[in-house]
Amino acid sequence: MNGQGEHTAPLRVLVTGGSGLVGRAIQHVVREEGGAKEGEEWIFLSSKDANLMNMDETRAVFEKHRPTHVIHLAAMVGGLFKNMKYNLDFWRNNIYMNDNVLQASNEVGAVKVVSCLSTCIFPDKTTYPIDETMVKKKYIYMLCWFACSSL
Ligand SMILES: NC(=O)c1ccc[n+]([C@@H]2O[C@H](COP(=O)([O-])OP(=O)(O)OC[C@H]3O[C@@H](n4cnc5c(N)ncnc54)[C@H](OP(=O)(O)O)[C@@H]3O)[C@@H](O)[C@H]2O)c1
Repeated sequence: MNGQGEHTAPLRVLVTGGSGLVGRAIQHVVREEGGAKEGEEWIFLSSKDANLMNMDETRAVFEKHRPTHVIHLAAMVGGLFKNMKYNLDFWRNNIYMNDNVLQASNEVGAVKVVSCLSTCIFPDKTTYPIDETMVKKKYIYMLCWFACSSL
């Protein structure tokens, strides 16, 4: 995971949170739309494979698959109000998972880990409906900043 050099062996990509909304979308691209290159292996995990808040379980599932690359999507995910109500649980649980995944990735020699931010993005002054072109607007507002700032 030093981010240096070229990885020449076939990719074995482990996707945590593979049963979630984003993970299933990636599965669709990989399996239905020909998104995987030849020789690549993609493994999609759910919480049934391992509780990533538990280091032993995390280590075991990483040892089993020995990924070269990791897309870390598993998370405690909620809407704005759940985020605000349980902000400490969200923060700690997701930090645990991220830390365990990083450590286990390093132990099995993965060369790259991509972790997904939990940030929800909404422009604070906008017209509705919101669409993706508004993501680049200069007044984009990080609602998550508001949620986290009350920690
Ligand atoms: N969806 C959005 O609009 C959005 C927006 C901004 C950011 N994100 C971020 O994108 C990432 C993925 O979000 P999502 O919408 O795909 O989430 P999601 O649909 O709620 O899926 C969460 C995934 O995490 C897994 N998971 C939860 N707790 C776990 C644990 N303790 N151990 C192992 N796996 C666990 C779940 O497994 P099970 O299915 O087995 O429960 C599921 O696969 C998250 O970091 C989220 O914050 C999403």
